[in-house]
Amino acid sequence: MTEFQIRKDNFAQHRLVDVGSDQNLTPGEIRVKIDRFGYSANNITYAVMGDRLAYWQFFPPHGSDAEGWGILPVWGFADVVDSNIADVPVGDRLFGYFPPADHLTMEPVHVTERSFSDGASHRAELPSGYNLYRRVNAEPGYSRDGDNERMLLFPLHVTSFCLWDVLQDNEWYGAERVVILSASSKTSIGLAYALEDDENAPPVVGVTSSRNLGFVEGLGSYDDVCSYDDLTSLDPSIPTAIVDMSGNAEVLGALHKHLGDNMRKCVNVGLTHWDGARSDENIIAERSEFFFAPGHIAKRIKEWGPAGFDHKSGAFLIQAATKSRAWMKLQRLDGLDGLAHVHADMCAGNIAPDQGVIVEL
Ligand SMILES: NC(=O)c1ccc[n+]([C@@H]2O[C@H](COP(=O)([O-])OP(=O)(O)OC[C@H]3O[C@@H](n4cnc5c(N)ncnc54)[C@H](OP(=O)(O)O)[C@@H]3O)[C@@H](O)[C@H]2O)c1
Repeated sequence: MTEFQIRKDNFAQHRLVDVGSDQNLTPGEIRVKIDRFGYSANNITYAVMGDRLAYWQFFPPHGSDAEGWGILPVWGFADVVDSNIADVPVGDRLFGYFPPADHLTMEPVHVTERSFSDGASHRAELPSGYNLYRRVNAEPGYSRDGDNERMLLFPLHVTSFCLWDVLQDNEWYGAERVVILSASSKTSIGLAYALEDDENAPPVVGVTSSRNLGFVEGLGSYDDVCSYDDLTSLDPSIPTAIVDMSGNAEVLGALHKHLGDNMRKCVNVGLTHWDGARSDENIIAERSEFFFAPGHIAKRIKEWGPAGFDHKSGAFLIQAATKSRAWMKLQRLDGLDGLAHVHADMCAGNIAPDQGVIVEL
């Protein structure tokens, strides 16, 4: 069995490790063969937040010299190839959180016709949304044709949906404009889609790097677009809510300073510029708030029920994936070797925003 591992203290550094053959299953376990997964800046953020949000804990690396190495979770599909549980038979197909590896041994609990959770003890304290697996063969109308878009976009666009939900639920924080930083990212584009479909939403400005300006303008989903170098062109007299996918403290500091009292709220979502500055004296901390999608999903599931949440978010996910077809080009990588070739470029931000990277095992 092979695993893709990265250094926790230098995550552009990676290695493929042959961790030996699979052990026999014990009662209550299944083994899945990972079929495919998506890869984007979101996965690199898992590494950046690996210690703070326990992302390293999902899939501990195997091997005798694993100290200092970690495994990045990825969203993808897998097939059950061995099973000790009658309710989850060989041939079942799963959508969820997997390691970039050939196989995973799991302990299904709370098994229903459509889903189960991995009850492995090392995952017990981790957010429940990440432990949930969808049994897709039981979904009406399921077709493998939609797998690539689903694994690449749904985990990002469900965040976009939640961000729209938070903004509208807080009456846009009194803002008359929403500024989205790292506007070329898929999560940002999903949010722009949600806001453009809401007639009550304020106008939306996308901020991106100069090299991605043409791409973001071409989407036609932002009311206005500007580059990081041109932030002062934004009218500071307009009350503004910022949604930040960049985590670039220098950019945030400059924007907060430029807007002053009109910086009504800053929702900190992502860290695409993970190697950028981490703090800046101009950041208005008291009106900034960290956003964690699994937390918001859990809150809404409590209020709306799981079916209610799926119903409300599901239509948006399909619509946003359909819109993304207009620009997203799937880049298919062959196996974990293919991932090894692209990983450093993903870390460095050298992947063009119109690329949808998928790894096929
Ligand atoms: N808090 C949450 O719950 C949550 C949930 C989902 C996603 N997120 C976060 O949202 C962010 C976006 O994820 P995504 O998968 O949608 O991104 P993506 O589509 O892969 O975004 C690519 C874009 O990110 C920027 N970028 C990526 N790497 C960079 C680098 N090393 N240096 C500078 N810019 C870089 C560039 O945009 P620009 O030129 O436009 O800056 C690039 O076009 C991630 O940080 C992700 O973790 C957070």
